[in-house]
Amino acid sequence: MTVERAPFGELDGNVVEMFTMRAPGGAEVRVTPYGGAILSIRVPDRDGRLGDVVLGFDTLAEYVADTAYFGALIGRHANRIRGGRFSLDGTAHQLPVNNGQNHLHGGPRGFHKVLWSARPLADGVALEYTSPSGDEGYPGNLRATVTYRWSADHALSVDYEAEADAATPVNLTQHTYFNLAGDPARDILGHRLQLNADRFTPVDDTLIPTGEMAPVEGTPFDFRQPTPIGAQIGDGHAQFDAPGGYDHNFVLRGDGSLSLGARVVEPESGRVLELLTTEPGLQFYSGNFLNGEAVGKGGVPYRHRCGFCLEPQHFPDAPNQPAFPSTILRPGERYTSRTVYRFSVAVD
Ligand code: GLA
Repeated sequence: MTVERAPFGELDGNVVEMFTMRAPGGAEVRVTPYGGAILSIRVPDRDGRLGDVVLGFDTLAEYVADTAYFGALIGRHANRIRGGRFSLDGTAHQLPVNNGQNHLHGGPRGFHKVLWSARPLADGVALEYTSPSGDEGYPGNLRATVTYRWSADHALSVDYEAEADAATPVNLTQHTYFNLAGDPARDILGHRLQLNADRFTPVDDTLIPTGEMAPVEGTPFDFRQPTPIGAQIGDGHAQFDAPGGYDHNFVLRGDGSLSLGARVVEPESGRVLELLTTEPGLQFYSGNFLNGEAVGKGGVPYRHRCGFCLEPQHFPDAPNQPAFPSTILRPGERYTSRTVYRFSVAVD
């Protein structure tokens, strides 16, 4: 394993770096401390050809301007919080609303828009950010570290840790868009997805969970067997109306230990992504809001559904949903979460 550092761009007079973690054989992951973003993941197809399987940009300036969270770390609270409001220990809090009437992905200047400090490791890079009290409306100082590690067998692990000096909601995730064909000029509808989830959390017309945990059985949300993403996306299910496709949290079967949440196979390249996580939920987003306006690496316009996201997380709107696993971190407690993205090729 090697880890190289190089300049990526400049922000407010400071040089922002990028770190390249390379495995023997050349497979590599590149990250930047700006937004903690994954810039690229180059892994082999079944013929051994390396291809970049994530969406993103060539320049730092484009990440600064981006509004769709390409590759970014998300915090303090992933996904939506209704009205940006929650009440904690009797105190009402108002967060900025940046998605219709709701708060999304930590707010407009969430963890995806800050410069993390970075420390290279033998096999990865450790990022750290201290979010001050009042940052995007959240209470208490929060110190977060996220460690990316790449392995010789092409597994990218992401370890999240956080501590706060006052109670605050915390729900960290990673918002990389994948296209395992390595060809974002094509959509991802032929990727075969398997999710380890018997239930999902249906949403209202602003994409806030209704509170229900509905069985996937007999619905287009049943990915318990490998199924092309596009197989039922056009079937007119009422849950597709607001998000224009999949943009839903799935209730994983896992028990809090690192467990397989999703497996995705791209049949032509043979590339396989397995996602293991300690999180109870997984947001599957089929890239419905991509419309060709964002122009990515190599000048490729990111069209409708040319990438998909799998965001391991606690459930959306958890601070307002007593039946969902809590996202409140209290002083003296330690937030930990781990996700592993394991790349390989299908033998069949
Ligand atoms: C998340 C949300 C989506 C969308 C994307 C970014 O995955 O759930 O609704 O906002 O981020 O466009």
